[in-house]
Amino acid sequence: MPNIKHSGTFTLGDHRVNRLGYGAMQLAGPGVFGPPKDRAAALAVLREAVASGVNHIDTSDFYGPHVTNQIIREALHPYSEDLVIVTKIGARRGEDAAWLPAFSPEELTKAVHDNLRNLKRDVLDVVNLRIMLDIHGPAEGSIEKMLTPLAELQRQGLVRHIGLSNVTSAQIAQGRSICNIVCVQNHYNLAHRADDTTIDQLARDNIAYVPFFALGGFSPLQSSHLSGVASGLGATPMQVALAWLLRRAPNILLIPGTSSLAHLRENLAAAELVLPDDTMKELDSVAAAAA
Ligand SMILES: NC(=O)c1ccc[n+]([C@@H]2O[C@H](COP(=O)([O-])OP(=O)(O)OC[C@H]3O[C@@H](n4cnc5c(N)ncnc54)[C@H](OP(=O)(O)O)[C@@H]3O)[C@@H](O)[C@H]2O)c1
Repeated sequence: MPNIKHSGTFTLGDHRVNRLGYGAMQLAGPGVFGPPKDRAAALAVLREAVASGVNHIDTSDFYGPHVTNQIIREALHPYSEDLVIVTKIGARRGEDAAWLPAFSPEELTKAVHDNLRNLKRDVLDVVNLRIMLDIHGPAEGSIEKMLTPLAELQRQGLVRHIGLSNVTSAQIAQGRSICNIVCVQNHYNLAHRADDTTIDQLARDNIAYVPFFALGGFSPLQSSHLSGVASGLGATPMQVALAWLLRRAPNILLIPGTSSLAHLRENLAAAELVLPDDTMKELDSVAAAAA
């Protein structure tokens, strides 16, 4: 079993977590909708992740919907003290599996209660408010109307910590003027580096940055350059992509997603892969080529 403590640790809310965590989105059915093909395999992935030292799991009640959280509860409840489950709100699913914005105070309150019930928690560790002003990615606009109701739910004791997702740097600044923000979750990986400046700013302020699609998401990363570097190191391209993120900044926490035990093991082993300085520089060309 890989020693994921080698990934290092970072404080997320009030817990020190291993920087290599796990993203649970792939545990729902195709298109993140409905039940998984193999529920037993989904339970096994979660149990092995935690047995291997993962103490940061990312989820949402709109995965399935409800399905992923119910699988997490079945696999891991009663939860160990050190496990941080981060969820996100701000969307709901249409009957056709569409991702629809859900930002009214009533929808946000319902989403918090759905997460509490399906995860079987009295209080949610961290809730990310996922902004969806544009379907394609972060877009400027005030987040005050959406964040204020979540801050109120925090005051009521239902939410311990708040994070933001799919946001611009102006929205992060606005969010921090409304309430304490412990993490930011945006699209970022070796080939998609729009948040380079944001990451460095958050690192200076000790705020966790949690890239989603670390492995490329629905279109997994593919680059002959990345493959060449990986084979030179005796590693896989996905392991190099994760190791690159671990070295990129100390506040980066990883939540690679997988429904496969073999991929989970491969991803967790990236904790022990340390990339030399010249490899880090060489990998910049993957981003340049993607741009
Ligand atoms: N805030 C947001 O808006 C947002 C958006 C998307 C995701 N997220 C979060 O981020 C987490 C990660 O996102 P993600 O799962 O979509 O993307 P990801 O981590 O970039 O990659 C997952 C994809 O890569 C495959 N994969 C995983 N490990 C692999 C390996 N070692 N070799 C080859 N393929 C591998 C997975 O398929 P297999 O199942 O076959 O391994 C899956 O297709 C999610 O679980 C979710 O919690 C957040």
